[in-house]
Amino acid sequence: MINVIGLGPGNTDYITKLGEKLLKNSDVIIGGKRNLESIKDFNGEKIELASNLKEIIEYINDNKDKQISVLASGDPFIYGIGRYLSKNIESKDLNVVSGISSLQYIFSKVHIDMNDLYITSSHGKTPDFDYVLNHKKVCMVTDKIIGPKEICKEILKRNLDRTVIVGENLSYDNEKITIGSPDEILNTDEFDMCVVVILEDY
Ligand SMILES: C[S@@+](CC[C@H](N)C(=O)[O-])C[C@H]1O[C@@H](n2cnc3c(N)ncnc32)[C@H](O)[C@@H]1O
Repeated sequence: MINVIGLGPGNTDYITKLGEKLLKNSDVIIGGKRNLESIKDFNGEKIELASNLKEIIEYINDNKDKQISVLASGDPFIYGIGRYLSKNIESKDLNVVSGISSLQYIFSKVHIDMNDLYITSSHGKTPDFDYVLNHKKVCMVTDKIIGPKEICKEILKRNLDRTVIVGENLSYDNEKITIGSPDEILNTDEFDMCVVVILEDY
């Protein structure tokens, strides 16, 4: 059985008890650098996940006798590794343990419900902003190319009245949450790893 364990937004206090138990019983953990580094007292094998997805699948298939856990940030099925693994590993061999997503985390911090939320991403793609901004409540995971400022420029281009919430380094000691108009966000210093919430009603 391959476990896919959502670690939550980053701070290990957010790992579920089940996730923690499965990690302890694993022979091998596979994950991105940030996720691997967060698992401290693990004596088994650690394999870094980068652009080696095919090799990872081969490794998993060749090591069926081992307890393998793949780490995911947040929830594995929100713009995470869950999708790729579910397409490449038989369902009966996959045990996915969801974690608290960075998206859920930011909404809990600003006390806003997630009802009717449109979830999307700018990772490695240019979103269709006409479509995205047609929604009243949006949350985006972002990359270094299209982040909060680029999103705000798209809002301003369309003359839309929106409030933007940027959640940086959520759950870590350097967490920062900035709330403002698109103009205010554009006049802020550069942002670190973040999610962006766009609200019509605030
Ligand atoms: C590949 S996506 C993974 C999302 C993850 N599956 C989740 O549910 O949070 C990575 C993006 O999620 C967001 N993210 C993940 N953890 C974060 C954190 N602790 N603080 C702010 N944003 C975070 C950032 O937009 C980051 O670029």
